[in-house]
Amino acid sequence: MNFRETLKVNGKGHLEIGGMDTVEIAEKFGTPLYVFDEDYIRKMIRVYKDTIEREYDGNGLVLYASKAFSCEAVYAIARQEEIGVDVVSGGELYTALKAGFSLKKAYMHGNNKLFRELEFAIENGIGNIVVDSFREADIIEEIAGSKGIKQNVLIRINPGVEAHTHAFIQTARTDSKFGFSISDGSAEELILHILNKKNIVLKGYHCHIGSQIFEKRSFELAAHKVMDFSAKIKRTLGFEAAELNMGGGFGVWYNDEDPRFKPADYAEYLTVLIKAIKEKALEHGLKLPYLLIEPGRSIIGEAGITLYTVGAIKDIKGVKKYVAVDGGMFDNPRYALYQSKYSVLLANKANEACTDKVTVAGKCCESGDIIAVDVPLPTAKEGDIMAVLTTGAYNYSMASNYNRNFVPAAVLVKDGRADYIIKPQNYEDIVRNDCIPERLKK
Ligand code: LLP
Repeated sequence: MNFRETLKVNGKGHLEIGGMDTVEIAEKFGTPLYVFDEDYIRKMIRVYKDTIEREYDGNGLVLYASKAFSCEAVYAIARQEEIGVDVVSGGELYTALKAGFSLKKAYMHGNNKLFRELEFAIENGIGNIVVDSFREADIIEEIAGSKGIKQNVLIRINPGVEAHTHAFIQTARTDSKFGFSISDGSAEELILHILNKKNIVLKGYHCHIGSQIFEKRSFELAAHKVMDFSAKIKRTLGFEAAELNMGGGFGVWYNDEDPRFKPADYAEYLTVLIKAIKEKALEHGLKLPYLLIEPGRSIIGEAGITLYTVGAIKDIKGVKKYVAVDGGMFDNPRYALYQSKYSVLLANKANEACTDKVTVAGKCCESGDIIAVDVPLPTAKEGDIMAVLTTGAYNYSMASNYNRNFVPAAVLVKDGRADYIIKPQNYEDIVRNDCIPERLKK
């Protein structure tokens, strides 16, 4: 197994993250537990920031796609790193605000933003809203008008690029609930609709072609199509985009079927995209747009691991060996949703040979509650600490209280210490919003 710089095996044969012994972390904080390496998060942010600086004269902004992992501490890191964020709900907006993040650098997404979410965003000075329907444009016009605000927006366009990734996470095919197609005239119609509004300032375009993408060519193609579209709109409607948001989607390593990118490879992705934009700007005589990118998974995914304690072990001879842990689909639903593959190891036996092949199951009352199927592992015993790697993105953010289990706590590791960034839940949290109508109290 290849370890990221963040992961090492120490002299005791224990897995370390960010220089800290994961077995000791598990003893101190309990399991299941999400553990994040702060240096890794900052490093990935800086890879993108530096690339925009170097390859595009700093004419752009990195937005962390906070749907990947949203909590106050992560917006605080984004604030300190002076990047922006992509938010997709009132809840993410509220969390960012609570962390002292200025919404001037926040871009709001969503195919069905609610009136109250738009109102909350506009009242709190959201920098930009990425419009994804005609109705939404009307609502923004109304709210901005009533508050005497001119609201900056982008429109979400759909360049029709097929990115090679799991079908559920492709978002810019022609058949998508997101965006307006550039090929059937609908994007153009939305532009006209917005250009007629008094309280909305159209800054440019957004597109996001999918997630967990490894093919540079997909981003290059999307950039070409968006810039061609921009040139066409300049010719036909006289509108030239000042901003271009190319979304996120850069892939990460989950197991050895995935390429193992180094930071320099992510810089290369972005460089390819920037090159495509520059080429097309030159070809069409367009100004270089202010560039936004929205990586989520590649900033936070490999920075995070989940620690579990091994419980029941069921060896069905000749069929399968199940090793159950104290977590499951309530903290990581990605196998259940996408059959995602993960790398798993025993944190307290990290340098022992993998002589077993096991299926890691959760504790939910559901057969599909699986974390990983047929993964190599040393012989596991009850009480061993299991680490599942690359769980920083779309794990906590998609967790639930299914079966009334607790959503695990999260700690952030830096300079030899680990601090809570999300506290553990307790039974009281589980029933906090429950109510019993009078008639049921008799
Ligand atoms: N921008 C927009 C508009 C997006 O929809 C997304 C992800 C991103 C940026 C960030 O993409 P990233 O860099 O993280 O790939 N729950 C799924 C992933 C859904 C992605 C949704 N949009 C999963 O667990 O794989």
